[in-house]
Amino acid sequence: MPTKEKILVTAALPYANGNIHLGHLAGAYLPADVYVRYHRLKGNDIVFICGSDEHGVPITITADKEGLKPKDIIDRFHTRNKEAFEKFGMSFDIYSRTSQLIHHETAKEFFLDFFNRGLLNEHKSRQFYDEKAQMFLPDRYVEGTCPKCGYDQARSDECENCGSLYDPSDLQKPVSKITGMAPVLKETSHWYFPLGDFQEKLVSYIDEMNVKYGWKDNVLQYCSGWFKDGLKERAVTRDLDWGIPVPLENAQGKVLYVWFEAVLGYISATKELGISRNQPDLWKQYWQGDDTKYVAFIGKDNVVFHCVVFPAMLMAWNEGNAGKYILPQNVPANEFLNYEGLKFSKSRGWGIDLQDFLGKYNADSLRYTLALNLPELRDTDFYWKDFQARHNNELADILGNFINRTLTFVGKHFENKVPPIYQLEERDKGMLELLERYPEKIASLIESYKIKEASLETMNLARAANKYFNDSEPWRTIRSDREKCASTLNICVQTIYTLAELFQPFIPFTSEKIFRMLNVSPTDWDNCGRYTLNEGHLLNKPEILFVKIEDSAIDSELDSIKDATKRGEKEPAEETITIEDFDKIRLRVVEVISAENIKGADKLLKLRIFDGYRERQIVAGIAKFYDPEQLKGKKVIIVSNLKPAKLRGIESQGMLLAAETIDGELKVVHPDDNSKIGSRVK
Ligand code: MF3
Ligand code: ZN
Repeated sequence: MPTKEKILVTAALPYANGNIHLGHLAGAYLPADVYVRYHRLKGNDIVFICGSDEHGVPITITADKEGLKPKDIIDRFHTRNKEAFEKFGMSFDIYSRTSQLIHHETAKEFFLDFFNRGLLNEHKSRQFYDEKAQMFLPDRYVEGTCPKCGYDQARSDECENCGSLYDPSDLQKPVSKITGMAPVLKETSHWYFPLGDFQEKLVSYIDEMNVKYGWKDNVLQYCSGWFKDGLKERAVTRDLDWGIPVPLENAQGKVLYVWFEAVLGYISATKELGISRNQPDLWKQYWQGDDTKYVAFIGKDNVVFHCVVFPAMLMAWNEGNAGKYILPQNVPANEFLNYEGLKFSKSRGWGIDLQDFLGKYNADSLRYTLALNLPELRDTDFYWKDFQARHNNELADILGNFINRTLTFVGKHFENKVPPIYQLEERDKGMLELLERYPEKIASLIESYKIKEASLETMNLARAANKYFNDSEPWRTIRSDREKCASTLNICVQTIYTLAELFQPFIPFTSEKIFRMLNVSPTDWDNCGRYTLNEGHLLNKPEILFVKIEDSAIDSELDSIKDATKRGEKEPAEETITIEDFDKIRLRVVEVISAENIKGADKLLKLRIFDGYRERQIVAGIAKFYDPEQLKGKKVIIVSNLKPAKLRGIESQGMLLAAETIDGELKVVHPDDNSKIGSRVK
């Protein structure tokens, strides 16, 4: 018997000021749920922790906008999101919330421990203050004109138009978003956590975890970016009236910075879980047990907080206290999921409300489609057409069909009982061998966080099963060789059992139905495979698992988002130019004569092109997306009158036009094959 693992799994605590959307699910929640369900079937000792993140500026902004109190907002969204998660099949052991007293206590305990041990530095700084509203303004409450580019919706210390960072005192014409008045700069003081002091330890912690457990490349890259810039101290308090009050005298109007306390919410929620189970020390078994493995599921925007800030806080605690916390063993963060080619956006109305979605479609169809499109390596998209195709062609036509034809056949010819098995032929042995091999195959994919591949492979077993059924032709053998037919159907029923088990992490509602049709309950993951169901076992009546989604349903979804784009899309601010301005730019069709990689510059390609008059050299940042050979002989478009410039020391006499694809790759713009070399693009 393999020893049982003890595992702690957390999923990012979503802000309780908006609805959960498909992007969240694909980023963190679905992979976490698949992982947890699998480990439960393995018989491992696992807890799955989540809850609402109920503090922070975004919540106060939403409340202000609606003329409500933050409490009203968090109550509304906590309840809604909790429900939506349930309908989606998230199997949290607890879905807590950071407004709970127990969380306030935990967060204060950490702050005070750091404070009392002299770890926190107090600094004064000048920040925008709204005299009318009598409050300090968080960054997002201030708008002004960028001192660098003149963009008039710049934030207090950063411009989203030109990307520059500046001191708030340099922002021009600042306006308070609360009262519309010009705020003043006023001195305030805050406590800072010395993140920089932990850099070395964090680097070696991540190195060690990566060597032992293989961290994802995207996560390692984000981390090394932060380390390269050098970690600096970070303020852990804010001037706000919503949040956890700073537990010190003379700290009126100050609360703990939301990211300082939210990550601790995982611990508080585990405490709450223990209390509800009458095991007040349960949290210690997981958080402070040397034998526990901790995995934190998040989306990419949360990486720094989970790989740098949170571990540093736990290290800081561990240095001065007897009870020592464990650190994440892995943080398998995903990239983003887009919606029909564009980023989800609440403000633009671009996205699907999960509750709406689940009112119309099967949660499992969504889980399956998302699983196959998880942004594990790069951003991916949810497309309605893809959703329909996965549901109709895979869930219904492959999985559903195999189960239905098998059970209907057994009902008709074998009195709905598992038929006996006789002589095995090669094909039968092949199928049984697959059944034996698959549980381990899927297990190792899930354990290495390759959830997408795991879902694909699981469906491959159903594909193989369909083929086995077809090739065995039971509708013929039932007349010519009843024993052979019985053996085939026995194996098909065992296969259904294995499919129900292996699909359980991905499509739990369906899996439950299948087990019901088989008249059995799930077993341990390691027990599925061959001969799980005894000869003569009575089955229940089959039901249809997936009803096809009509084109008309998908068309109407697509129609409604067309409206949404018209309604909500906010274009990026763009300065207009005149036709004369444009006339200065010479775009020309040219032909690529040859292309080559550049040593030491893995992003750049060096191209020789012919522009109709002469040959010249162009350097383009597309090496990651092309083999040089692919471009040879192709017509492309360049800016031909751009002043020559050197890239990595190599002269580029013009610029190649390229555009980003929906997968985030850079692809060269090609004119028509018949375009004349040298002709102007206008
Ligand atoms: N509320 C954050 C978000 O939605 C995530 C917080 S994760 C936590 O992006 F660990 F800090 F709670
Ligand atoms: Zn700017």
